[in-house]
Amino acid sequence: MPSLQDTTRGRILFGGDYNPEQWPEDVWHDDVRLMKEAGVTTVTLGVFSWARLEPRPGVRDFGWLDRLMDLMHGHGIGVVLATPTASPPPWLGRLHPETLPRDEDGNVEWWGSRQHFAHSSPAYRRYAAAITEDLAARYAHHPALTMWHINNEYCTYDWGDEAAAAFRRWLRERYGSLTALNSAWGSAFWGQSYDAWEEMLPPRRAHYMKNPTQVLDFKRFTSDALLECYAAERDIVRAHTPHLPVTTNFMPLWQGQDGWKWAAQEDVVSVDVYPDPKDPLGGQYGALVQDLTRSQAGGGPWMVMEQAAGPVNWRGVNHPKPAGLNRLWTWQAVARGADAVCYFQWRQSRQGAEKFHSGMLGHAGEDGRTFQEIKRIGAELRAVGPQIAGSRLIAEVAVLHDWDSWWAGQQDGRPSSLLDHAEVLRAWHRALWEANLPVGFAHPEHDLSAYRMVVVPHLYLLTDTAIDRLVAYVRAGGTLVCGFFTGVADGDDRVRPGGADAGLRALFGIRTLHEWWPLDTGESVDCGDFTGTLWSEELTADDEAETVASYRGGELDGLPAVLRRGRAWYVSTLPAPDALRGLLGRAATEAGVRPPLPGLPHGVEAVRRGDLLFLLHHGRDAVTVTVPGGRHRDLLTGEPVGGTITLGRHGVAVLREDAHPAGSS
Ligand code: GAL
Repeated sequence: MPSLQDTTRGRILFGGDYNPEQWPEDVWHDDVRLMKEAGVTTVTLGVFSWARLEPRPGVRDFGWLDRLMDLMHGHGIGVVLATPTASPPPWLGRLHPETLPRDEDGNVEWWGSRQHFAHSSPAYRRYAAAITEDLAARYAHHPALTMWHINNEYCTYDWGDEAAAAFRRWLRERYGSLTALNSAWGSAFWGQSYDAWEEMLPPRRAHYMKNPTQVLDFKRFTSDALLECYAAERDIVRAHTPHLPVTTNFMPLWQGQDGWKWAAQEDVVSVDVYPDPKDPLGGQYGALVQDLTRSQAGGGPWMVMEQAAGPVNWRGVNHPKPAGLNRLWTWQAVARGADAVCYFQWRQSRQGAEKFHSGMLGHAGEDGRTFQEIKRIGAELRAVGPQIAGSRLIAEVAVLHDWDSWWAGQQDGRPSSLLDHAEVLRAWHRALWEANLPVGFAHPEHDLSAYRMVVVPHLYLLTDTAIDRLVAYVRAGGTLVCGFFTGVADGDDRVRPGGADAGLRALFGIRTLHEWWPLDTGESVDCGDFTGTLWSEELTADDEAETVASYRGGELDGLPAVLRRGRAWYVSTLPAPDALRGLLGRAATEAGVRPPLPGLPHGVEAVRRGDLLFLLHHGRDAVTVTVPGGRHRDLLTGEPVGGTITLGRHGVAVLREDAHPAGSS
């Protein structure tokens, strides 16, 4: 199978979405001149071009794209060509209203924006396949073409009739019989039993809480239906260009797609990442997305398909990136395994909904600070990229994350609506990030034996297979740190006897799990050395367990808050950030996991990729970092580095240990 390396060919790619159909053609020539100046090596064309390529049903207008492909090739810029199927032309909705999705109230999502397609509509799929086929046939042999980008951020839900029919087919396939379905859905509750497949519906507007397994299955189905759309277009382009990789860009930590299942269907895993520049933990959010995406790519190189050079336009208040932040976050992605770093978009639009969203080339033009910083990044990547591209990171700690569990856990009727799966994941990842531990992500059914430590922030649903894996992992000597409200439900969202899986409880030394005690906003529990928020649990320990911390005061006074049994730890609350960092740091030390550099100043991140050490300074005040070992050289400056290096505001260094230090022979 082709991979990202077939496109990068030993470089770190740099570029962005290019939407030249918004501009007169004379601007295109200015664009390529400035792209060359900025070190752009790749552009993504055609993401939203369906109406331009097919102005009327069956009519094709490829001339403008021919000229662009030639222009790019003439300047040595590779093209990632998108299938334009994320935004069907208005005529499709007019002629085939069934191609428009409906919300849970039955309201139509009309054209006039984007992503207005009903994923299971045969007409949509037919027209999408036809334009994809013609695009692939036309450009298969064009020398500018380097990769395919299918659709864009697949993210639509559909409760309409086409989706209902497809959902029924999906359920028949999954369950085989209504008896099996009724059992899995627990439909005896509230008299919901189904007697005919025609009665099955997506979980549309209802009077009160919906059947949780129906909702869970609808999310599984939606992810699968979108994946079918992706796979159909992928197979079309693949037939024309078996040597070129195919991708589609993920929204990070997005509920709508099972990221593990999807990544397995891609040649290149790519993601769009937009941390808020105002968020003091924006760098940590970026690191989480990077760690997750790299893990979805099997630990190998991956691609930032989109980031912003400056502000976005979809937050309430959209903050620009202060000087140096774009460069820092770009290098952070490279440090964590990216071999391609691209932006939305090359030239900032003057019209349309995103005219206040930054571009690499903003309204301020080539003298603008944003473009100047882009030029610097492009030059650095060109110079240093070949020494980095293709190398890998070794993650010794795995964080388990699973969409099924997220879908099942994030529903009405739970002990606490404040429990947000993604927020808990962020809190635990933050602790590991601040401790500078090398982290990857894994699915709970993955083989975990390569990791020294496995961390489960919170997985409400765990299958029997996943539980067996965790138990076997600890038996084989692995260290497991597990958060609250985990292993509660089986794969059908049926609560396990005893409130959580018996094998897991035994692993941690939990004798009885009496009650969940979720906490209100602003409420905390005293655990002696630290406070916990969000959640607490009424547990009693068995004789094998060691109580690491206990609740003090309140209803849970004296009961265990943190338990361990050998190498298996259980944390029944959300410890304050410092405490969680301390706890995970302690477990990691025992497991033999070390940060790449000890004693880093606050705000400095150190990442080892291949034989390079990346230092990334998230703060604004200069700091000095001690670099033990032999002499190093900073690839960005070419300067030798003695025992220390000073990093200025948002400073970055890429250090290589000198093979032959000065003075040696
Ligand atoms: C992404 C999308 C782009 C652009 C960008 C703005 O979600 O793929 O087309 O809209 O957001 O941040």
